[in-house]
Amino acid sequence: MVSKTPEKDNHHKIKRLCQFSTARRRLQVMPGGSSAVDFQVVTGVSPGGTTNARYCSRSRLGPESVGPQRDVGVINGGDVSIPAQSAGQSRRVHAARSYSWFAPGADRLRKGLLVKISVFGLGYVGTVSAGCFANEGHEVLGIDPVQTKVSLINQGQCPIIEADLAEMIASTVAAGRLRATDDATGAIQETELSFVCVGTPSQANGNLELRYIRRICEQIGQALKSKNTRHTVVIRSTIVPGTMRKVVIPILEELSGKKAAVDFGVCHNPEFLREGSAVKDFYAPPKTVIGQLDQNSGDILATLYGKLDAPLIRTDLETAEMVKYIDNSWHALKIGFANEIGNLCKSFAIDAHEVMKIFCQDEKLNISPAYLAPGFAFGGSCLPKDLRALAYQAKMHDLDLPILSSILTSNEMQVARGVRLIMEKGHNRVGVLGFSFKAGTDDLRESPMIEVIERLISKGYDLRIYDKNVNIARLVGANRDFILNRIPHISRLMVGNIDAVLDHAQTVVVGNNDPDFQNVPQQLRADQILLDFVRITDRKSHNGHYDGICW
Ligand SMILES: NC(=O)c1ccc[n+]([C@@H]2O[C@H](COP(=O)([O-])OP(=O)(O)OC[C@H]3O[C@@H](n4cnc5c(N)ncnc54)[C@H](O)[C@@H]3O)[C@@H](O)[C@H]2O)c1
Repeated sequence: MVSKTPEKDNHHKIKRLCQFSTARRRLQVMPGGSSAVDFQVVTGVSPGGTTNARYCSRSRLGPESVGPQRDVGVINGGDVSIPAQSAGQSRRVHAARSYSWFAPGADRLRKGLLVKISVFGLGYVGTVSAGCFANEGHEVLGIDPVQTKVSLINQGQCPIIEADLAEMIASTVAAGRLRATDDATGAIQETELSFVCVGTPSQANGNLELRYIRRICEQIGQALKSKNTRHTVVIRSTIVPGTMRKVVIPILEELSGKKAAVDFGVCHNPEFLREGSAVKDFYAPPKTVIGQLDQNSGDILATLYGKLDAPLIRTDLETAEMVKYIDNSWHALKIGFANEIGNLCKSFAIDAHEVMKIFCQDEKLNISPAYLAPGFAFGGSCLPKDLRALAYQAKMHDLDLPILSSILTSNEMQVARGVRLIMEKGHNRVGVLGFSFKAGTDDLRESPMIEVIERLISKGYDLRIYDKNVNIARLVGANRDFILNRIPHISRLMVGNIDAVLDHAQTVVVGNNDPDFQNVPQQLRADQILLDFVRITDRKSHNGHYDGICW
């Protein structure tokens, strides 16, 4: 039976709320409880194969009232026991939020995976990283030129307002695992891994301001000159593709007199946290992306993040740089799209939230990877027509919907890009494989490839075109009349098989994803160019013989 005395009650709650999964090496405090104080496990140590947890409790008064950490005893296969609280202590313990992290327990310590980390820039990203890494048991040194931030950290106070962070800063500073300084050189000497989290604000023209990144790289480069042990520099700040290779690495190499990847490691590790839930996001990020100059550079980060319950993706520097921008553009687009839909719905007196709730339930086509592969323009009997109708309705309601109304313009520009790419190859004899609006249909209505073919005809190109489904339709289907009478100029160019196109063409364009086209890249003559509008092969564009429309 559960005791009603506060101490035993707390004891019981902790037992109930903490679960330790040995299989996943994660410790979880489940949501629950309703009393006045939050419970938080702040670290774990592992003297003898078992994992101890320690906790501090946080009163509603805020971080100042965080008490000393106390040993809560051994977590053993799912139970945690705490020593009785001392007389006079009014703290009561419960868990008010879900909390989890990768356990800094026996295994990590035994394998020697704790790292000495310096974090440059104690703003939102830097302070969260510093607090969380220190919370994981690593020794962390924060560096910032702003003395107030340095002093606050050293006093165990958090320089930013962010849920859960104040307790972490307080407890890790108290435990001696987190300190701050303005001495960049000393920080490099003392640590083995540096995270650069300085701001990269906009310039007046929209370009990225790299002043702080350059300054940091100069400081780190200079410090590396006199460092004898290997160091890894990780840029967490958001930077446009090419910055690592064109700015960061050259400055580091020039000032250190050393070679990146050989003498020191370099990575880009974009940050995906959201302010307000940054600590939760640190422990449960949507993904971890490691852009690495070489395998060696990325290994230390992969180990550091290895226990996180999130996909760990290792890639090249430029891809990692780009991913962050794509994420943010996508999030911004989603918000803008939802708002425009809201405005449109309101003008129809339709509840936009109900509409979007239904929209979001479709995880097959709407909230899914569907339609997110870069390629050629859309077409067919629905998308263009329905976008036009919505744009007209918006006009009728005196609504400006710039995102929705620019979709067709963007699509038309993709058609123009396709034509331009073909023309740039400089060949007169062009072959098109697949020209219905998508593979597996004979529907030619608003097919963007038909538009491309018509523009090439008007410019005097010598064309041969093939599409299995349209060929069948020309002979027997319902579209026979349309093909023979409405587009006779196109019908005349049709040939009976892939080989007839390949025999004729100098430039071969693959216009839809018919599986029959899979082997075309291997069938080409040396003097032929393949223009791929649908990613029929995973090749990258190179040397003019293979060209993807946008890859
Ligand atoms: N804030 C976010 O939610 C978020 C999320 C993901 C990515 N990012 C990116 O992370 C980067 C940092 O963002 P932030 O919001 O933490 O910036 P911020 O402006 O809050 O903090 C930057 C810090 O860097 C310090 N600094 C400047 N020069 C320095 C130097 N030479 N040495 C050490 N410290 C120095 C500043 O004093 C400041 O404390 C940016 O590139 C941002 O785009 C931010």
